[in-house]
Amino acid sequence: MIKQAIIPLAGLGTRLLPLTSVFAKELLPINGKPGIEYILDECIDAGIKEVVFIISQKKLMIKKYFYNDKFYKDIIKKKRDPRIINEYKKILKYKKMIKFVFQEKPLGTGDAVLKTKKLIKGKYFLMLLPDDLIIKKNCSKSMIDIHKRFNASVMASMKVNKKNVSRWGVYDVKKKIDNNNFIIKSVVEKPSIKTAPSNNVVIGRYILSKKIFNKLLKLKPGKGREIHITDAIQSLINDNEKFIGHNFSGKYLDCGTMKGYIKSNIEVSKI
Ligand code: G1P
Repeated sequence: MIKQAIIPLAGLGTRLLPLTSVFAKELLPINGKPGIEYILDECIDAGIKEVVFIISQKKLMIKKYFYNDKFYKDIIKKKRDPRIINEYKKILKYKKMIKFVFQEKPLGTGDAVLKTKKLIKGKYFLMLLPDDLIIKKNCSKSMIDIHKRFNASVMASMKVNKKNVSRWGVYDVKKKIDNNNFIIKSVVEKPSIKTAPSNNVVIGRYILSKKIFNKLLKLKPGKGREIHITDAIQSLINDNEKFIGHNFSGKYLDCGTMKGYIKSNIEVSKI
């Protein structure tokens, strides 16, 4: 059973400047609700009981957001507004399930994952990248089902136009399981269009084995001198760990860029 999720939140959000100059991008509203709450709701609905947030001193605002219950309490005492009471209960529910670890230097997603090593209890855990919003169908839930069926690691994926592959991790298929699930042969971080093995790209939802931590400990920095989760995954594949690429059926929204963020607001408002 997968009961724990981790969420890397130490990124600077430079692609969303000026909105992120003093504000955490994950708290920016998407149709009136902070982006991170969509991610947490996806976790809760998928049966996750504990979520580890990887933050930095610069992103302490995220911790404050979930630890501001006294502020709510004082307001509710003066004015019993049902809407505020509801929000207060929601914050309390989230607070109970969140743990925090720190990544002070932005050394990559792999490095962020490594910071959670001591807290992960089960054989497998879920990771969600908060820039990637998936609406209409719970992607994490579908991936947990696939994990249970095949007892394997899983990555969310989709097909993109070949000219855009260099923005993502890209994988090659070893064997097709069905129309939406593929056993992965290899995966490479942000390849050039020329060297990309396919147009199957990785989206920010992963079910990873605890074995990934030992791989990350040994890993040297890769592209852009960062420690990439993709490189640790390739190393596990080399050891015959089964990885499944799951083409999810929800709608993908990229909240990490200005254009994508604006589009996300419009798309979510239509639901
Ligand atoms: C990360 C991963 C990449 C993946 C992407 C999904 O990249 O390194 O393999 O395709 O998330 O959003 P980032 O968006 O952090 O550059």
